[in-house]
Amino acid sequence: MRYVVTGAAGFIGSHLLEMLVELEHDAVGWDSFTDYYDPALKRANARGLPVERVDLVEDPLDLTGVDGVFHLAGQPGVRSFGDVFPVYVRQNVLATQRLFEAAAAADTRTVFASSSSVYGDAETYPTPEETVPRPVSPYGTTKLACEHLAYAYGRERALEVVVLRYFNVYGPRQRPDMAFARMIDCLVAGRSFELYGDGKQSRSFTYVDDVAIGTLLAMEKAPGGSTYNLGGGEEVSVQQAIELLGAIAGRPLDVVRSQRVDGDVARTCADTTRMVAEIGWEASTPVAEGLETQWQWAADRVAAAQ
Ligand code: UGA
Repeated sequence: MRYVVTGAAGFIGSHLLEMLVELEHDAVGWDSFTDYYDPALKRANARGLPVERVDLVEDPLDLTGVDGVFHLAGQPGVRSFGDVFPVYVRQNVLATQRLFEAAAAADTRTVFASSSSVYGDAETYPTPEETVPRPVSPYGTTKLACEHLAYAYGRERALEVVVLRYFNVYGPRQRPDMAFARMIDCLVAGRSFELYGDGKQSRSFTYVDDVAIGTLLAMEKAPGGSTYNLGGGEEVSVQQAIELLGAIAGRPLDVVRSQRVDGDVARTCADTTRMVAEIGWEASTPVAEGLETQWQWAADRVAAAQ
């Protein structure tokens, strides 16, 4: 199949594109290499992959002849209050609207990467897709706006679009601002990890290879207009993750406590009944195993840089 992956030099996008290439799909990636984090890391993610530099807000977008577009590009990070908001609006809402226009014009099936952050502090745990979304971060509100755009383009422009709500994805190449990547960096460098809040906050941590597979299956099987939680069966608190990583590294992670940050939810826990029943997908990587792989990847990088 002919596929385009947006955000292909990012963490999840690069894994997805790599998998598509390995499966011998005719796949290319688009990425604008923003500086949300060091673009050198993105260039490293994209090494050996067919990634073109494309800015979804400014460049012409032509999806003619493309069977499916995986729209993973976006400005991530729930800690998004303050004057960064226009960046979130540009990279998420404006970019997605243009991408949906191009996809509708070319009749290209679309999978949109949304986020568990649309739920905010959810009414129910595990959280099914019907739960009223009430994001508590500006980032989450932009992701929810994109979901509403998906609905509008589906209804009015016949765009077949599937929304996937990713739950705290981790693994090799994880974004450096995310908790596990920071914990590992601190362990490697012998620095202290800054823990926001009491560490009791928990997440449905989902391993990136499971996410890549679930995303492709959704492209292949999900009906247009549908929404799915793509979350990993295991919920772990930040404190438990700190202990797990200490055990993997063979030395405890030093922690300094600071305030809970705005936009941070107490819990995410995916109800994956719909994904299992309709798509036949279930996350299969236990956190201890996935963390070990992420740790090994980071250790190999440090060794290679020495
Ligand atoms: C993450 C991603 O950053 C979002 O892009 C994504 O949409 C979201 O998951 C999701 O899947 O919905 P977050 O839950 O903040 O958001 O993920 P982490 O950065 O891995 O943080 C996990 C927990 O660790 C949070 O409670 C956070 O406060 C805490 N943390 C993080 C720290 O205590 N210290 C840090 O330095 C970083």
